Amino acid sequence: MSKPNVNVKSDSKITSTYCCSWRAPSNIALIKYWGKWGRQLPMNPSLSFSLKHSCIEFDTCIETPADFTTTNPKLKSLLVDGKEIAKFSARIEKFLASTGDLLPELAGKEISIISRASFPHSTGIASSAASMAALALSLCSFQRTEDDLEFFRRASLIARLASGSACRSVYGGAVLWGRCEDDACIDEESSDEYAIPLSSEKYLAPLFRNMKDAILIVDSTPKKVSSSAGHQMMIDHPYREARVVLAHENLHKILLALKSGDAKVVAEIVEMEALGLHGLMMSSMPSYLLVRPNTIHIIERVRELRERESLPIFFTLDAGPNVHLLYPQELTSKIKAFVAEELLRFCEGGEWIDDEVGSGPLRL
Ligand code: DP6
Repeated sequence: MSKPNVNVKSDSKITSTYCCSWRAPSNIALIKYWGKWGRQLPMNPSLSFSLKHSCIEFDTCIETPADFTTTNPKLKSLLVDGKEIAKFSARIEKFLASTGDLLPELAGKEISIISRASFPHSTGIASSAASMAALALSLCSFQRTEDDLEFFRRASLIARLASGSACRSVYGGAVLWGRCEDDACIDEESSDEYAIPLSSEKYLAPLFRNMKDAILIVDSTPKKVSSSAGHQMMIDHPYREARVVLAHENLHKILLALKSGDAKVVAEIVEMEALGLHGLMMSSMPSYLLVRPNTIHIIERVRELRERESLPIFFTLDAGPNVHLLYPQELTSKIKAFVAEELLRFCEGGEWIDDEVGSGPLRL
């Protein structure tokens, strides 16, 4: 990890500038985080794979003004793929204003960010997990004093406060967020405050160590109900209690199945979680629907192929209509042919992203 790069700038009102660049990945959850309480704490534990190609890069400069009175850092400028986007700036401003207590070294600092996405914007793929992980890593890099374990743990905690699922994006591979009182499955201390990485060697059978993700873009228009609004609706949801119990049970079963290589159980749980998430949306008050008819067509084709050829493949969904088709790398040519022949007709403009599980963020 490189040393902080501190320059004295000619601007007399700024005494020093620290700059760093990070690339952070999106992640796809197998066990879904849905519902939160307190200061961005999850209602249930969740488990995800971080992706390799769907990433966001942040170039961040942190300036120290000669005199300042505020205790929080503040946003000076934000360019998202060359543009100023008011809603993104507002989100980061709000986050910075609320995290001063956890980032005392940034009191009064002025932060300028240039962000770039590595995937096409037209896809409607949510980038907040990757963006907020890149932001947290950048902020925590200033005056870094901790060892790697502490640094990433702190970055995960800070990322969580910006966007829950972002806390999983500070690691690669399989990542667990949320207290999991399950000694049978997890040796590490898990927490609601931050995510922890699950090593492939220990937690994944060889079949699941090199997973690919075909992201099938069904509809790229911005969704009508945000995830934050969806989490809110879980507060009084009629199935709230049952959801928490089910998430713990599903986590227990999937951890055992990922370890033993039981693809049938993994597929059952992942797909039940995906459809269950959308079931919770449909049974929220007010009820809403994010899947589209083409989402269902793709799901049916994936299930048919799995049954016909007994393949270890399965789908999942984010809080939107697009489908993630997860499969082991050995099946790449077969699945690419399947996507081209049977699924692209259901994708908007024939668009899909050929992604895979990645090794986590990178300081550039
Ligand atoms: C459906 O992390 O986007 O993708 O904490 O309000 O920023 P906020 O929500 P967010 O919720 C993501 C929910 C999900 C499931 C998951 O990623 O676990």
